[in-house]
Amino acid sequence: MSILAKHSYIERNAFLLFVLSFFVVAIGGLVQIVPLFYLENTIEDVEGMRPYSPLELAGRNIYVREGCYVCHSQMIRPMRDEVERYGHYSLAAESQYDRPFQWGSKRTGPDLARVGGRYSDDWHVGHFYNPRDLVPESIMPAYPWLAETRITPDHIEQMLLTHRRAGVPYTDEMLENAKSDFRTQADPDNGDVDALLARYPKAQARYFDGSPAITELDAVIAYLQMLGTLVDFSTFEPDASR
Ligand code: HEC
Repeated sequence: MSILAKHSYIERNAFLLFVLSFFVVAIGGLVQIVPLFYLENTIEDVEGMRPYSPLELAGRNIYVREGCYVCHSQMIRPMRDEVERYGHYSLAAESQYDRPFQWGSKRTGPDLARVGGRYSDDWHVGHFYNPRDLVPESIMPAYPWLAETRITPDHIEQMLLTHRRAGVPYTDEMLENAKSDFRTQADPDNGDVDALLARYPKAQARYFDGSPAITELDAVIAYLQMLGTLVDFSTFEPDASR
């Protein structure tokens, strides 16, 4: 029997075709999956990564609530055009505390993985009020209610605890101080910024929306301004031993 004849026999025998296809696909699966069981950790720890501060986490929740991920990815691929436009490609460790991750699957707008520090707070305030005021051709929706909606840290401790149960290393101290850290970051004149920074290095504390009242806009801008700023890429070297 020629090889073609053998193949046409398989093609006409649905059960045999299924069994052989399964066998072929299984080999591919094993080659990809088995090595993972022999690695101690699939994520290389990277200096600088820390859990989100309470205010950043609250901002992240609003980001998810508003569906920003529908238009924005947070994952820079290691390809030249992306690296030139957005900066160093994303590391696995940079989303290790993301529950759920925000890699996204569509870029109607730009990738936001390293948007932190790219624009001023004022720019973001104006952009959320009406994107067209700053980028005339923008199709991003306006989010004017963020600036008008006050936000309180009533449930922030439970939120941190939930993330801890999902594997994020929030300490007891972080939980106990969640409410004050939340307020301090958005209203630094009335809080202990040093204590905030000891728990969350590189956390930025200021009146993000320009006023002392704490609004959803404060939280979202605090979140955006920290994205991609934790790892110092001037000293980062990928671990070549892996
Ligand atoms: C319908 C799609 C869409 C949605 C939903 C959307 N955006 Fe955008 N976004 C865009 C587009 C398009 C741009 C580029 C034009 C501009 O700057 O307005 C943009 C730009 C941005 C920028 C500037 C990025 C840069 O590097 O220039 C930020 C920050 C941003 N969006 C944040 C958000 C946040 C936060 C949300 C959710 C509250 C959101 N976007 C929701 C489409 C969207």
